[in-house]
Amino acid sequence: MTTEQFAPWTEQQVQDHLAAGKLVEGIQHMSPKYLEGMRRILTVSADTELVSAPSYLRAAQHAPALNNFGSAMSIIQDELAHAHIGYRLLGDLGVDMDELIYERPARSFKYPYAFDVPLNSWVELVCANALYDQAGFVLLSDIFQSSTFGPWKRALAKVDKEETFHLRHGRTWLRKLAREPAGKAEVQAAIDWMFILTLEWFGLPDDLKHHAEQLDYGFKGKSNDQLRQWWMREVVPFMEEIGIRVPAHFAIERDAYVIDCPFPAAFDEEKRSWLLDEGAISWDDVQARWRARGPMNDDYVRTLQRGYQTTSLRRAA
Ligand SMILES: [Fe+2]
Ligand SMILES: [Fe+2]
Repeated sequence: MTTEQFAPWTEQQVQDHLAAGKLVEGIQHMSPKYLEGMRRILTVSADTELVSAPSYLRAAQHAPALNNFGSAMSIIQDELAHAHIGYRLLGDLGVDMDELIYERPARSFKYPYAFDVPLNSWVELVCANALYDQAGFVLLSDIFQSSTFGPWKRALAKVDKEETFHLRHGRTWLRKLAREPAGKAEVQAAIDWMFILTLEWFGLPDDLKHHAEQLDYGFKGKSNDQLRQWWMREVVPFMEEIGIRVPAHFAIERDAYVIDCPFPAAFDEEKRSWLLDEGAISWDDVQARWRARGPMNDDYVRTLQRGYQTTSLRRAA
């Protein structure tokens, strides 16, 4: 199926279709604007799932025992399946999947900057499960509830359940680690840099945000700031419960979570630490760091593309 086989719908046709309570079932129901917006959000989602695999694999090599390694591998397998769902849907929307996955330059991948920072230990992997997979869960649950694109909405029922397993894996380990001082110190050190990176994950605050079609067309239900709040509502009480400090608290008078450190802030990616003494920076500066990508970008994308580029195997036409 290619995009050329269908005359694109007008914006009005899409709006009427949605107003009648129907879902968009394929490219035949899309206007150019809907198609472009859906390709963008699917690419971010699929790239994020895909790059989490080499990121988690690197850390899984430090698993304390074989059965723990097995749990990590089953999470990685889930992530690859999630990525496949996204890329497969992009293929249906006229995108060349091989080009997208295997021939795209590393810097053109659209996943959150957090995954460009290496996870170097088992503790960091389980912290990522508790924070990053929780972010994935929040974002995908919102899309599951709100998306007007039927095929993706239906596929996300399975993805949501698997993300729940990933974040529970993280929480179970964190509870256990936080019971003794050495483990707790290691978790605290990881959360110190990972918490703020995950806050950034939700993107620009609503007053600076573009891509309004994500909300207009029901690609998403909640705004960036609402999603960031949702994530804090899940993560902050859990961290408080296990005695791990995070730079955010619930402000009763505002009925919202408040970030207690300069945000957004400059990040030293070699030391993996926040330069909080320098105060808050602009989102333009953050976006410049995101665009430049971080330390592991090349390495992870090369790992994912190596097989394709070193053999003559290609998908059957
Ligand atoms: Fe996933
Ligand atoms: Fe996950």
